[in-house]
Amino acid sequence: MNILEIIEAKKQGRELSPAQIAFVVDGFTDGSIPDYQMAAFLMAVWFRGMTDAETSELTGVMLRSGEELDTTGLDAPSADKHSTGGVGDKVSLLLAPLAAACGLKVPMLSGRGLGHTGGTLDKLEAIPGYRIHMENEEFLRITAEQGCAIIGQSGSIAPADGKIYALRDVTATVDCVPLITASIMSKKLAAGPRTIVIDLKCGSGAFMRSLDQARALASALTAVGRAHGRNMAVIFSDMDQPLGVAVGHACETLEALAALRPGGRDEAPGDLVTLTEELTADMVRVSGLAPDRDAALAVVRDAWNSGAAWERARAWITAQDGRLDWDREDLGLEIAPLALELEAGDDGWLEGMDCRQVGLALADMHAARRRVEDPLDLTSGIDFLARIGARVSKGDVLARFFCPRRDEAEAAAQRVRAALRIGEREVAARDLILDRVD
Ligand code: URA
Repeated sequence: MNILEIIEAKKQGRELSPAQIAFVVDGFTDGSIPDYQMAAFLMAVWFRGMTDAETSELTGVMLRSGEELDTTGLDAPSADKHSTGGVGDKVSLLLAPLAAACGLKVPMLSGRGLGHTGGTLDKLEAIPGYRIHMENEEFLRITAEQGCAIIGQSGSIAPADGKIYALRDVTATVDCVPLITASIMSKKLAAGPRTIVIDLKCGSGAFMRSLDQARALASALTAVGRAHGRNMAVIFSDMDQPLGVAVGHACETLEALAALRPGGRDEAPGDLVTLTEELTADMVRVSGLAPDRDAALAVVRDAWNSGAAWERARAWITAQDGRLDWDREDLGLEIAPLALELEAGDDGWLEGMDCRQVGLALADMHAARRRVEDPLDLTSGIDFLARIGARVSKGDVLARFFCPRRDEAEAAAQRVRAALRIGEREVAARDLILDRVD
């Protein structure tokens, strides 16, 4: 087989055979295909796309480039959720123990944040002692015993993706549905869950800005998941404003865990509660533990209100050596002092915002990465209080900035102020759940 012929075939828009796709991925991973030829191949895919069969094959080859976990020994249906990333998205921290309390096993491999989107692993690292790396056997044992475990993906999971993603990042080929699909699914499939529910975020704080783009990605993700024998469901959720109030690592971890505490659900931000329940209910229903959406939601609410999910959260975090002061309101998490408050300059309605800028404001306080190697301040964060459609009066506090360095908090607040659109016309609140695919 010849790499030039394969690049040429894709350039002409022809469908590649499984053997050709394997040749490219294996050759690039073992170093026999150089970066410049792989870059040309990726760009040809960017322009010409891939069929569902090709995308599924690409995913499979990338998956088989590394280890796959064997979840067949778990004594209950396994399920996982993947979010395409957003601002203030701390759902995994609630959903994993909640799903466990509903009777599922949740082996979750998570990633770090980059740019304006946060990552679950960074949020978990705000918990003193929490171990994000361990051997696969221990990860599966904790999942079996506690119902869930969340760790970072090691280099042994889909190593082809790491190498290909690094090249996509510097060749303007990240925003390509088949390549995104193979990248996400090769990693998600490796942890072995039988059911995968996707939270496909859409809006100014998301990867996918429009619902049409989101639908194309959803269709590719579900086709690949099903081709690999998994049950799939997708919820399209709004990411035109942060999810919940807290944005930032320790702040988000506290908001998520406080919501699970007995009585915490009623105090928690409504959008966070709704999205967590809907995603968990889909995991429960699609796994076959409830016959329909209403029954699944009832199971989820019972697990939350009874305190069972809180108990699962404590057991899971303790099993991964996390040390929290469970009786304290702040759980002993270190959060930076309040540096300043951003007030509304005028009366009006919050019409909208560039949500991406709210995520980037964290980077102004060293609480998000601009580059992969940037160090993170896990204590700094924002309480984002404004909601689209809300009436605001001059002087109302729109956001609070927690940061040990006032000049950085000022830069972050300026960025957030510029991102908000306060107008004179009344506007409707945004829908959170935009659509679904079952
Ligand atoms: N997330 C991934 O893991 N891969 C992509 O290509 C895009 C988002």
